[in-house]
Amino acid sequence: MTDQPAGTYSPSSAMAEGAHADKATYEKMYAESINDPEAFWGEHGKRIDWIKPFTKVKNTSFAPGDVHIKWYEDGTLNVSANCIDRHLETRGDQTAIIWEPDSPDDEALHITYKMLHEKTSRMANVLKEMGVGKGDRVVLYLPMIPEAAYAMLACARIGAIHSIVFAGFSAEALGARVNACDAKVVITSDGAPRGGRVTNLKDSVNQALLNDYNDVKCLVVKRTGQQIAWRGELDYWLHEMEQKVSADCPPTEVNAEDPLFILYTSGSTGQPKGVVHSSGGYLVYAAMTQQYTFDYHDGDIFWCTADVGWVTGHSYIVYGPLANGATTIMFEGVPTYPDAGRFWAVCEKHKVNQFYTAPTAIRALMAQGNSFVEKYDLSDIKVLGTVGEPINPEAWNWYNDVVGKGKAPIVDTWWQTETGGHLLTPLPGATATKPGSATLPFFGIQPVILEPTTGEEIHETAAEGVLCIKESWPAQMRTVWGDHERFEKTYFSDYKNYYFTGDGCRRDEDGYYWITGRVDDVINVSGHRMGTAEVESALVAHAKVAEAAVVGYPHAIKGQGIYAYVTLMNGEEPSDELRKELEVWVRSEIGPIAKPDLLQWAPGLPKTRSGKIMRRILRKIAEDDFGALGDTSTLADPSVVDDLIENRMNRG
Ligand code: WT7
Repeated sequence: MTDQPAGTYSPSSAMAEGAHADKATYEKMYAESINDPEAFWGEHGKRIDWIKPFTKVKNTSFAPGDVHIKWYEDGTLNVSANCIDRHLETRGDQTAIIWEPDSPDDEALHITYKMLHEKTSRMANVLKEMGVGKGDRVVLYLPMIPEAAYAMLACARIGAIHSIVFAGFSAEALGARVNACDAKVVITSDGAPRGGRVTNLKDSVNQALLNDYNDVKCLVVKRTGQQIAWRGELDYWLHEMEQKVSADCPPTEVNAEDPLFILYTSGSTGQPKGVVHSSGGYLVYAAMTQQYTFDYHDGDIFWCTADVGWVTGHSYIVYGPLANGATTIMFEGVPTYPDAGRFWAVCEKHKVNQFYTAPTAIRALMAQGNSFVEKYDLSDIKVLGTVGEPINPEAWNWYNDVVGKGKAPIVDTWWQTETGGHLLTPLPGATATKPGSATLPFFGIQPVILEPTTGEEIHETAAEGVLCIKESWPAQMRTVWGDHERFEKTYFSDYKNYYFTGDGCRRDEDGYYWITGRVDDVINVSGHRMGTAEVESALVAHAKVAEAAVVGYPHAIKGQGIYAYVTLMNGEEPSDELRKELEVWVRSEIGPIAKPDLLQWAPGLPKTRSGKIMRRILRKIAEDDFGALGDTSTLADPSVVDDLIENRMNRG
């Protein structure tokens, strides 16, 4: 550890020795995965159980007009059997899920693989009773309770496709997603406790389904026992139904390419798109990354703090860990309740070995001071992970020094809803890390940096441009639900024959990758993706709003904040009440995560003569960096810019 360049952290020899991959193994396996992907993924495809083994490994193309992605295409399997049944013989009494409730005064649950099997099978039979079959869509709108995992696996068990809607989304957003995937059933709970407060989820579901979706049934988990409004014959209590059905539900055989789930995510234009993930390739990759990235070993306790409403929760709370027979923690609460020591209290209590969270949470906890961490015994932690946005070196160092005591390697994992699993990440026993870099590609991943305007690949090691991926990997999304054309257009049309990530990236002289952030109109607020167009269309849907433009700006805790410029209808006057009204409006249209942090009244927006809003200028003003506005000569009315600068909200 002496002769390494400043700012790099090499794995200790103890870590390297015990790890699934040390540096030499990583390099050897990576080379194999690139030189002969068929052989590599053929071999690693065997890590899961197949009903009918595949004979074809890879059939993929990024070619314009012919984008198709198929892995293990003639194999058949069941994902729930892979996550549960196959472990029963060897680890039936091992804990599969530790559930930590919102309140530390309530008891944690230790759910064994046997219990998981029974609960999932019963729920699967309940869904069948309710008319759900193979290929049908089921929307989940649930708090972080064990039933969320049962519901995912129950869908998988009968070949139904789940689509989880984060419980923080509004009734409006929920309704749009139920409609978009034409769901038969919504699974929800009466209430959702979080941070000591309870929201009434069932109310939102009722509101979402009110007029248009009178045939959508609802399965309700009793979590809080609070009063809820019932939709007559359309609603079912889970605890009543599960007593009426058998505890035995034979897993349905599905094709490797049959969709496992749809997850709606924000894009740079239009409404959220339904990212479709497969059964076979997705599971292989989620399981393999969980094992290698976190260096997970049998008996370890793994905790990913994400919500199952995001892809991180899909791959690293449920599917990856359970496919590996791991013990995975599911946490109902928030990092700051009852105080800013909660994460560390839970780590101590359950002897967590691998801990995985987001930079925004790290920054928020760092701001509360070290005493909250130092109270607890964190000596079981072996690996620390981050995901969701670039991590600033200050937060990285705090995580490393204060949480990991300099002994736990940090894995900064770069990936996306679309990628299903990690694409750029260190491996704890193999990769020297540099604070702020997602380091090197996972097995099978070929990142390339393109010159943004020409689309030419930059071959020099040190490079900066847009990040694309050259070849497919098993967990790549397969299509946009119901709109394959949009899939091609979004990811494969700007740069032909590559998968375009939407991220800017720098590669340093050591070949390390540094994500510089989105290059499209997507902003990243507390590690959650928000399309600026979505927030804009919510704002202009308000009767008093004529026009709106939304951009991101640097925010100390959230990474990026939402900055909205709003032009009112003629005759409407700006006021604090109206500002509040618009904030409430956006919350109800999308959800609390979309509420603008700063809202500026704009008498006019900077537009080109052809009417296009010049966001570059709005971004600069939002960043309080208007000294460098660049060329404004093409503006139809350059004077609007002076007004916007004069009344800017974010003075440094
Ligand atoms: C976008 C994807 C994948 C789960 C969480 C977010 C940003 C993600 C990192 C990281 C820098 C990151 C990228 C990416 N991002 N991880 N380690 N370093 N940026 O999933 O909502 O699909 O967002 O999040 O900009 O494109 P998502």
